[in-house]
Amino acid sequence: MSTRRLRLGVNVDHVATVRNARGGHAPCPVRAAKLAAEAGADGITAHLREDRRHIVDADIPRLKDEVGLPLNFEMAATEEMVALALKVRPHAACLVPERREERTTEGGLDAAGQHNHLRPLVARLRDAGIRVSLFIAADMRQLEAAASLGAPVVELHTGHYCEIEGAERIVELERLRRSASACASLGLECHAGHGLAYDNVEPIAAIPEVVELNIGHFLVGEAIFTGLTPAIREMRRLMDKARGLA
Ligand code: PXP
Repeated sequence: MSTRRLRLGVNVDHVATVRNARGGHAPCPVRAAKLAAEAGADGITAHLREDRRHIVDADIPRLKDEVGLPLNFEMAATEEMVALALKVRPHAACLVPERREERTTEGGLDAAGQHNHLRPLVARLRDAGIRVSLFIAADMRQLEAAASLGAPVVELHTGHYCEIEGAERIVELERLRRSASACASLGLECHAGHGLAYDNVEPIAAIPEVVELNIGHFLVGEAIFTGLTPAIREMRRLMDKARGLA
């Protein structure tokens, strides 16, 4: 069991989903991010999708400047998004797939298949001092591609692990564990996220090489019932428990 405290990045995309359902300004993702900071989040994550279905352009500089936590800017590997990242200069940029042809079978970015496209983008972000991570499946080929692209960080896609149950989930958990351990050998910092909730977070949080979890949809949903602050505190408690810290 690792006793190192895990970082929790709170993804505020779905606060913006609710806002955009009616247009206007409420509920405000920047307000949610400030509350997340007070509740013990270590970072804020936001995905500016090409279709702007939740976070919109004006949210990004505000999330960076008004919240006081590192911003992890999730983005497609496109020229438009790179230009925006270079303008806003978030702490980190996580490259995620948006189109089907950019994905691996498990849904992560196809870092291996897209190598030639990604290489210059990763270099430009890195040269601007932005910490680049690649959201990839727990797959050795993708991990090696991430390392050869010069990305310092990968975020392992936990979506499949969250969707399945029983023996299948144990197999997937083992794959995530092996990938996290391979990250250490390849010199990659290991994050994880997608689909995490109270009932599935602990085995992922217990993987010693994982240093950050990014969690959004469940927390925003739970906030409807308990409020955002208690939801984040409970997630924090479960993560600390898994690390032997609670
Ligand atoms: N990490 C990445 C790279 C993501 O794209 C997402 C979803 O936007 C998350 C984490 C958070 O996933 P969820 O909203 O299911 O917690």
